[in-house]
Amino acid sequence: MRGYDILGNIALVKFQRGESAKSKRQQAEQLIKNNKRITTVLEKKDKIKGRLRTPKTSHIAGLKTKEVLYRENNSLFRFNIDTCYFSPRLANERKEIASMVKKGESVLILFGGVGPFAITIAKTGKPKRIISMELGRECCKYALENVKRNKVEVEIIQGDVRKKLPSLQGKFDRIVMARPNLQDSFLDVVFPKINKSGTVHYYGFYKEESLGVLRELIESKAKEAGKRIRILKIKRAGDIGVREYRYRADFKVLN
Ligand SMILES: C[S@@+](CC[C@H](N)C(=O)[O-])C[C@H]1O[C@@H](n2cnc3c(N)ncnc32)[C@H](O)[C@@H]1O
Repeated sequence: MRGYDILGNIALVKFQRGESAKSKRQQAEQLIKNNKRITTVLEKKDKIKGRLRTPKTSHIAGLKTKEVLYRENNSLFRFNIDTCYFSPRLANERKEIASMVKKGESVLILFGGVGPFAITIAKTGKPKRIISMELGRECCKYALENVKRNKVEVEIIQGDVRKKLPSLQGKFDRIVMARPNLQDSFLDVVFPKINKSGTVHYYGFYKEESLGVLRELIESKAKEAGKRIRILKIKRAGDIGVREYRYRADFKVLN
């Protein structure tokens, strides 16, 4: 076994290449035995792929389900591991961003998945309006369920940010861009939707030595949109490969 993540009732295991089915099953059964919360062990197959960022898994031991019920930051999330992206490693990010939200803000979460950013922020009781936009239909179905489950108010919009955002009514004080690892920065459609003095949290994937590219990208897209910005902070928000990291750039839009 190379390692595993626990998501509520499910353990997602990465095995060594070439391990036999019998050895996988024995290790999986041991995991279930040693951890009362785990009822299902799935093998994580490939790297996370495609626009929907969903992992491919196969059942190894325990109950045959791909549905997780996962608690994070005092909220509960249900979702299907094969059809929805959810990263438990972003828990602290959600908490940190929620702590920055001020009373009465209107907040937009792009690439919202099954709702974790939006629900964590809504739970603070501070925003006056909060929207989560997500491409995946299944994810949106779960996001709606999760909003009800956590007794908060969040609008869920299903669709492609590039197509849906331009026609969305209103502007926002804070926009969270929990982007997947794609070329498209989506910044051109975001700039027209942010209020003066609003804040954008932009996630991107870079090697440490090419971090300058992120700064340049944000500055050049701001210029194209006729916006003046101030980058407040660029921080590491998790690693995704060999010396490659998820970074979060926080910037204020001044005009
Ligand atoms: C990195 S995940 C973030 C999910 C979630 N916010 C979280 O923290 O677990 C990216 C999400 O963006 C969605 N996505 C990808 N391309 C999109 C697009 N063009 N418009 C809207 N959502 C998109 C994927 O379906 C996926 O759920």
